[in-house]
Amino acid sequence: MLGKYDFTKKVTVLTGDRPTGPLHLGHYAGSIRERVRLQDTAAERFVMVADTQAYTDNIDNTRKVGEAIPHIVADYIGCGIDPDRTTVFLQSAVPELAELTLLYMNMTTVSRLERNPTISAEKKMRGYGEAERDFPSGFLCYPIAQAADITGFRATHVPVGEDQLPMIELAQETASKVNRIASRDILPSPLAVLSATGRLPGIDGKAKASKSLGNAIHLLDSDVEIERKVMLMYTDPDHLTVAQPGRVEGNVVFAYLDAFHEDRQEVEALKDHYRRGGLGDVKVKRLLVKTLVDLISPIRERREKAYASPDAITDILRRGSAVARERVSEVLNDVRSGLGVYRFPAGLPHS
Ligand code: TRP
Repeated sequence: MLGKYDFTKKVTVLTGDRPTGPLHLGHYAGSIRERVRLQDTAAERFVMVADTQAYTDNIDNTRKVGEAIPHIVADYIGCGIDPDRTTVFLQSAVPELAELTLLYMNMTTVSRLERNPTISAEKKMRGYGEAERDFPSGFLCYPIAQAADITGFRATHVPVGEDQLPMIELAQETASKVNRIASRDILPSPLAVLSATGRLPGIDGKAKASKSLGNAIHLLDSDVEIERKVMLMYTDPDHLTVAQPGRVEGNVVFAYLDAFHEDRQEVEALKDHYRRGGLGDVKVKRLLVKTLVDLISPIRERREKAYASPDAITDILRRGSAVARERVSEVLNDVRSGLGVYRFPAGLPHS
């Protein structure tokens, strides 16, 4: 289920982000850093702005989604995703994905969807009533659409956070169902690739940094804002004086140093010192502020410059979506014939 890249084989990497707001350090540590690294390898790379998926729980707030699209592309560029080396595209600009989703909906039971732990957690988070099942059917079905996103490119590797593992599992099941019905290998089984750092906690110590929880450091945060957030970070509540021994586990400052400070030895030495006692929170926080300012400020400058050219951003999405469309059309065609769905003798009217 989990994968490592094997560059002796053809590697196609696809990931996506919902445009619901600007990206934050959780996205960066969880998968964007990895996408940038992969640009120096032989992998074929696609990055999708998942606007269709964002609508599954934002149909009453479509403006928010539309406004977030150029922000996300600017964030990508700021982080070093190069549209000449990575195909960056918009999900809704590839309608073939929607058709693939419709076909896959017939291969996935409602109970299978209702057993998806990420969907259940998100239902709770969004306050959707459990007993009345009072949520949009598109929301329940978005894992199917995500299986289409992944298999529609014949992606072999999907760098994601842990919460996305149930989605990859469904994509694997879907690929194998298509192959079984077709009696031949049409779709590869995609592998999830988890980041080495794991899930980044929120500054408040909650398990996940997220925009909706307001506990994330964003890639567009100013240096002052970064400092403010680091100074608010949850540490060890029992570490009351500098002299006392402190706990590193569950301490957000150390989780961030682990994720972002390049000198591993320095971090380990600081952890030892903190555990022994004699090291104050503020001192460790100062190091983290510097680490994050050094990381984020060049990203922020590049992303601001990119955001200031909306036409260039539209152009990136337009070019990328044309490439993506060509790819998904081909795969959709293969899936249709593999499933044996009806075709006009001379081909579909639009193909
Ligand atoms: N569900 C993902 C998220 O919330 C976004 C996403 C949509 C995605 N389609 C994808 C991720 C395909 C990987 C592959 O972050």
